Amino acid sequence: MQLDTPDLLAALATCVGARHVLHSLEDTQPYNEDWRRKYRGRAAAVVSPASTAEVAAVLQLASAHRIPVVTQGGNTGMSGGATPDGSGAQIVLSTRRMNRIRHVDPFNDTVEVEAGAVLEAVQLAAGEAGRLFPLALAAQGSCTIGGNLATNAGGTAVLRYGNARDLTLGLEVVTPDGRIWNGLRGLRKDNTGYDLKQLYIGSEGTLGVITAAVLKLFPTPVARRTAMIALPSLEQAVQLLCRVRSELGPALTAFEVMSAACAPLLQRHFPAMRWPFDSRTPVVALIETSDHESEAHARDVLESVLARALDAGIATDGVIGESVAQSRALWALREHLSEAQGLEGPHIKHDISLSTSRVAAFVDVAVRRLEAEFPGARMAWFGHLGDGNLHFNVLAPIGTDPAAFCARQEDVNRLVHDLVHAHGGSISAEHGLGQLRRDENARYKDAVELALMHSVKQALDPLGLMNPDKVLTATKRY
Ligand code: FAD
Ligand code: MLT
Ligand code: ZN
Repeated sequence: MQLDTPDLLAALATCVGARHVLHSLEDTQPYNEDWRRKYRGRAAAVVSPASTAEVAAVLQLASAHRIPVVTQGGNTGMSGGATPDGSGAQIVLSTRRMNRIRHVDPFNDTVEVEAGAVLEAVQLAAGEAGRLFPLALAAQGSCTIGGNLATNAGGTAVLRYGNARDLTLGLEVVTPDGRIWNGLRGLRKDNTGYDLKQLYIGSEGTLGVITAAVLKLFPTPVARRTAMIALPSLEQAVQLLCRVRSELGPALTAFEVMSAACAPLLQRHFPAMRWPFDSRTPVVALIETSDHESEAHARDVLESVLARALDAGIATDGVIGESVAQSRALWALREHLSEAQGLEGPHIKHDISLSTSRVAAFVDVAVRRLEAEFPGARMAWFGHLGDGNLHFNVLAPIGTDPAAFCARQEDVNRLVHDLVHAHGGSISAEHGLGQLRRDENARYKDAVELALMHSVKQALDPLGLMNPDKVLTATKRY
């Protein structure tokens, strides 16, 4: 039976308390729009449970009355996955009140946290226990563990530690009909059937609500070092990556790159930041190493890596952060790129991955084709070269209207993604599909794989109430 608005609000209030049910346009506005301001919807209500039991109560109610549910964590997602549609019929379930760090277990090297815990708070809790939780991304001050797992977030340390999927040992999930699955096992070996947690990780709220997780911890490095390196081309960057990967082994924790179009963006929107090279440098790499011996060892190793790269003619220039503050300043250049691009105006984003051996060839042909078809377009790509993952973003030509350029985004996307597909890559490396890439994914995905994904959705969410029409098309059934 459908509920009218007053009945819906009253029923939700019995689950979580009236203070934690929002309805007015003003109160729900921050939940109705995504970080990039690309998508805007209208939630019937925003409900904020404080416990797993309260999530279960909300989902039982939603299932009984066929109310679609959009789960939202920090709302920093890049694919519009956490934004409700404009029907006014969907409720947003915000996990922000479920933010407890339940238990750090230094012997098992694990931490159990609630889904609404902010990533940075989890990193700090691990640090206080003398351990490292290595997931790291520029939105870590506001994104949540639930969102990280639901999108299988990547970030800057995947090269060494893997993505969110690799860092998760156990999950607690509330199913669409309000049952609680307690899979909070901190086991590194467990072959007792299908690995259900891996279904929920990366499912972007379409199969259930993740309420808690057991995550892996690691030894904290004694020292970290950051270097920024100027390179003549992306091909040389890939060569440098291969070199430092074999020279440093597990000490290499990040290998990021930025194209020549990135420096001018930072200079325009963050003029106080200092770019250490000529702003026309074709490619700049940012490398981070972690050392378990000493500060001095960390410095010597990175200095000799850089010296060898310069001697070999792979790199043309380089700087090493001599202090924590200097290293932070180098990282800040990389981390402010999303914001700088946003400040520049609407732009066309891509989040692609390729095998590292094919990245340079892809970029070469993609840039040539885009320049021919969209003269003056700026190729402001950056990203996680260590994982073969580039944010291959395309900006309007200087002096033109960014919105008018973005009106051609389907053509740009088609060109870029057809090429990615032809090179054996993925059109969504770490940001997920949400609503941004849902239809394109259906175009490129293997038909059998897509049909199996629909079967999983049908089996776990038969009423189609969980984040309808995200990830997969035509999932509305309620
Ligand atoms: P939300 O945006 O709230 O939600 C994202 C998706 O997860 C939605 O589909 C939502 O329905 C679902 N969801 C959220 N919580 C739950 C839950 N508890 N149970 C079930 N489903 C849930 N991403 C990267 O991978 N790597 C990066 O380097 C990176 N850098 C970023 C930098 C900036 C400046 C910004 C703004 C974003 C960046 N992102 C990056 C994207 C974003 O931060 C990640 O996708 C993050 O994991 C989203 O977490 P969130 O809590 O904000 O999720
Ligand atoms: C990044 O690596 O900075 C992020 O994934 C965000 C983005 O692509 O803008
Ligand atoms: Zn990224």
